[in-house]
Amino acid sequence: MFSCSDDDVSKGALVASFTATSTPENPNLFFLDNTTPGAENYTSHWQFAANGTTLPDTDGLEEAFFASEGSYVITLTVVSADQTATASQTVTVGATVYSFCNDANAVLLANTCANSATGKTWVWSTIAGAYGVGPTSSGIYDSADTMDLSWYSHPENGFTEPDGSSCVYDDKYVFKQDENLTYQNLNNNTYQWGWAWANLELGLNLPQFADGCYESPEPDTSGWILTYKTSTNGNQYPWLMLTNGATIAYYEGTSEYQIVSITEDVMILRNIAKDPNGPQNGWRYYRLVREGYADVGNTSTEPDTPLKSAATTFSVGMAVQSNRLTGNHNDILTREFNNLTAEYEMKMNITYPSQGNYDFTAADAIVNYGVANNMDIHGHALIWYQSVPSWVTNFSGTDAEFESMIEDYITTVVQRYSGQVRSWDVVNEAVEDSNGYGLRNSIFKQRMGDNYIQKCYQFARNADPNVLLFYNDYNISFDTGKLAATMALVDNLMASNLIDGVGAQMHISYNFPSATQIQNMVDQVVSRGLKLHFSELDVRANPNNDITSLTEARAIQQQNKVKEVVQIYNAIPQANKFAITVWGLRDNETWLIDFWGNPEWPLLYDSGFNIKKAHTGFLEGLD
Ligand code: G3I
Repeated sequence: MFSCSDDDVSKGALVASFTATSTPENPNLFFLDNTTPGAENYTSHWQFAANGTTLPDTDGLEEAFFASEGSYVITLTVVSADQTATASQTVTVGATVYSFCNDANAVLLANTCANSATGKTWVWSTIAGAYGVGPTSSGIYDSADTMDLSWYSHPENGFTEPDGSSCVYDDKYVFKQDENLTYQNLNNNTYQWGWAWANLELGLNLPQFADGCYESPEPDTSGWILTYKTSTNGNQYPWLMLTNGATIAYYEGTSEYQIVSITEDVMILRNIAKDPNGPQNGWRYYRLVREGYADVGNTSTEPDTPLKSAATTFSVGMAVQSNRLTGNHNDILTREFNNLTAEYEMKMNITYPSQGNYDFTAADAIVNYGVANNMDIHGHALIWYQSVPSWVTNFSGTDAEFESMIEDYITTVVQRYSGQVRSWDVVNEAVEDSNGYGLRNSIFKQRMGDNYIQKCYQFARNADPNVLLFYNDYNISFDTGKLAATMALVDNLMASNLIDGVGAQMHISYNFPSATQIQNMVDQVVSRGLKLHFSELDVRANPNNDITSLTEARAIQQQNKVKEVVQIYNAIPQANKFAITVWGLRDNETWLIDFWGNPEWPLLYDSGFNIKKAHTGFLEGLD
């Protein structure tokens, strides 16, 4: 005899459904409402995917925040006692301009205490509401804030008005580690914040200062890794691990910080804070913006055709560093480029820091990233007089032992990346800039003789006959003496079939060298049937230090020079084509600023990851 419960009678196929709505204030934040009939009786799991990567999520009423513009697939899986149903939607996020001040609603984290106002400080701002950071008229922490954006305009805070006009406070927040877990800003607004427990959770046992403060650890972004941990409820969440292995994100049932994205200067966390006295009230988001960096989103009006899509006959490369492969860097790298060069982390001083001990950590991270994103990888550089580890300079063995060590080094590195690294700068910058353009008197020349170059290329060729071998140097697009010496070096290698291409670095300026000079160099390489790599393109906008910001006029001149360079390259025969590699992503990341010591904007993106006119010049050069 079967009893029929109401549930059985009404039971039909389980059909999952949900709505995803965003608000004009924040088009990146989608409020997800599980509209599956009887949803409260089922377990619901949400997953978010972009570019094929999926981030598993958990159940409950959700909001999903997407840091970058693009399309995201949201999938809801509903599980009943005996059925499973899914529903998916694709939402699109447009370019978002966040208009918030660094300090508005900001909680200064690192070095929060007056006692230690040193070093970089991280400034928290809130987007789409920050659980537990909004005061109420009574000044008591109120978890019921529905849309903390209203808090921005809260008169007593004096923060931005609803129209996002500029903030008026330069608040410095001080955490008080006390029984109320409260902190006060300089306006004596009292806030409650769960962050202080993080200090305890981090187990850092940092000294508590007389004023009751703790100094938040200055996160070392170079050591940050985005990993996954299983929380106490069995679900997997992305967690930010600090270099000391401590976890900034900690799930303890009262609040949970998860990482949505992280770059060198912007990190987005989201907080599932459960109201201690009530139901879970969903996601809240935080964007950490390193002080001094303005995260203004992509406000560029330039055409944003991806370079790799427009360059159909050669690859478009970017110089990268292992701690710049996530967040906005990743978004642009995967959208625009299909070739990578390690800016410095595949050089001998990094990969071979002490005799017999290799360190491929950073190199592997870059190679693995390139392989995972179907990019060509250009190895740079095996032998360079400027990246010699001290133990090599001070090598105490015989010349024969030195040569054997170099052969072992080249063989070890080339074979490690065989099948992954398509090409190598075997020797970089061996030709002097003057003095008859002879060979630099590097340690390699001193210990292995004048034919050290031939030997190194032979070692590389023996290590992997399939990898393309390049010689790479600078100023050969206008210094005819250096060009001639370089071609002689190349001819010598060609005689033994030990070279496949030449890298012309192309560290140039908006007004120099001329197209004729560049073409002359190009003709010399092409006529030899070798591949040509414009290997380190940057275009100085301020070579004479005559501007203090990138003017419209100078940006246009830069755009035209980039266009000219790309046109010249795009016109060479297909057999000689290889790649154009840009030497850095954002203007503020260029080596040129430190090298020349003056402001410079030589690249295709500005410090806010916005496309510049130089990027448009690249596209125009492909027309
Ligand atoms: O990232 C680390 C940081 O964590 C650490 O605190 C700091 C202090 O040691 O070093 C930082 O790494 C530096 C890196 O640039 C990133 O800024 C390295 O010390 C520094 O040596 C490295 O300089 C690179 C240089 O080659 C030497 O390898 C430049 O980025 C890179 O642009 C430059 O590139 C060369 C090409 O290889 C050859 N052609 C010329 C070009 C410019 O010099």
